[in-house]
Amino acid sequence: MPHTLVRALAVGGALLVLAGCADDEQLDADEVARGGELYDRHCAACHGGAEGGQISDVPPPHNAEGHTWHHADCQLVDITLHGMPPREGFPEMPAFEHQLTEDEVEAILAHIKTWWEPEQREHQAEVTEQVCD
Ligand code: HEC
Repeated sequence: MPHTLVRALAVGGALLVLAGCADDEQLDADEVARGGELYDRHCAACHGGAEGGQISDVPPPHNAEGHTWHHADCQLVDITLHGMPPREGFPEMPAFEHQLTEDEVEAILAHIKTWWEPEQREHQAEVTEQVCD
């Protein structure tokens, strides 16, 4: 798919979600946009975009088809900054601590959250509350 189309879909999807669910989460539109640019630059090539993929894929999609929404914010930030231990036969999740700040990773997460269903966002917010300080 051409990059511009992917981007248009991602932005369109984000706007739809933001418009539809403004009351269940305070996603900051500027942060979401900033996170989208960072996501396209650093993550999309491996993890894909707003649509497609399935839960068993490695790398997993970060959209509603994946399992990212099962994990708390602090765990997702930690994985993104520090990477994951390599597993034989699978590609590796690199560490981004020298390329992204914690704030930037949080913006990326805000962007990813616009791809989730409202129930997924709600569940993930509860998990975050239980797990993170
Ligand atoms: C070179 C490919 C690659 C890039 C680039 C990459 N990842 Fe990953 N990521 C992976 C792989 C592979 C896994 C799964 C590792 C495993 O299961 O052992 C993964 C797993 C993850 C996970 C844990 C699984 C989940 O969905 O909760 C998170 C969170 C994550 N990546 C976030 C990011 C973010 C954010 C970026 C961009 C800043 C990024 N990754 C860029 C390859 C990549």
